[in-house]
Amino acid sequence: MKAIVLAGGTGSRLFPSTKAVSKQLLPIYDKPMIYYPLAVVFKAQIKEVLLITTPEDQPAFQRLLADGKQWGVHLQYAIQEQPNGIAEALSIGAEFLAGEDVLLILGDNIFYGEGLQKHLNKAKITLEEISKGTIFAHEVECPQRYGVAVFDEQGEPQFIEEKPQNPQSNFVITGLYCYPNLVVEQATKLTPSTRGELEITDINNYLLKEGLLEVVTFKPGFTWLDTGTHESLLKATQFVHTLEKRHGIKIGCLEEIALSNKWISPHQLLYWAAGFSNSSYGKYLVNKYQNKV
Ligand code: DAU
Repeated sequence: MKAIVLAGGTGSRLFPSTKAVSKQLLPIYDKPMIYYPLAVVFKAQIKEVLLITTPEDQPAFQRLLADGKQWGVHLQYAIQEQPNGIAEALSIGAEFLAGEDVLLILGDNIFYGEGLQKHLNKAKITLEEISKGTIFAHEVECPQRYGVAVFDEQGEPQFIEEKPQNPQSNFVITGLYCYPNLVVEQATKLTPSTRGELEITDINNYLLKEGLLEVVTFKPGFTWLDTGTHESLLKATQFVHTLEKRHGIKIGCLEEIALSNKWISPHQLLYWAAGFSNSSYGKYLVNKYQNKV
């Protein structure tokens, strides 16, 4: 299984902050936003990763993340020329995937909670054993901004409605999609929606119709943050700051996850951390792991 992280788009809802900088490079407290979805990919134990960006922003991402060797992963880059829709990530990534299944994650989505590792493992097993994909729903107060899951009386998902004016449920689809490879061909058949985008919701509805998709609901205590507005960006920063200070942990700490996956040694971790030991992020790593070598 391989992973695609989609980090393009114009970020226009965050202008002027995103006029010269990619939205997914803005800081969420002590690290760039892109670290958080990458952390989910690492937690899913996926080492082959494609990062899709705009043409202008690719060099900045490469400066930050390089080829992924520092975490023991293989990071490749691709370009989305125009924000034609999330589903285009699947056709852009076709060659990279080379027939393998895919974990697609949006570069502005943050997931945090105990069940995450279990959900990711289960989604991978579901794909391997019965070739079914998994998407994840979360209950929100204002579902109008999202893809909304519609369930029947038995609680079975029927279809997803993209940004409905009158949502039929409060469960919305998050930006984490675990798909069988057949979605790649399906993505090439899509036509733009009325808002002019190749919709990921059309892929989800196709899979649901074919009986090839599980919709898993995150429990109420689980945290899912999308960072599309100034308000939600601030909330995400406050959330990470509070948890990290209160518990003495780091959320989205790629070196730490790579170490726990045994992709790098404590020695390698300290070598890389030495490069940013002036920051609280670097200091955290040095303090926590200097006695482990
Ligand atoms: O966040 C979850 C929601 O993401 C889902 O509930 C919706 O079904 C899905 O359509 C999507 O809705 P958004 O309106 O939030 O998508 P947005 O256009 O904001 O794009 C999400 C991220 O993907 C953002 O970081 C930019 C990036 N993106 C988006 C598009 C359309 C790209 O890189 N390329 C694109 O063409």
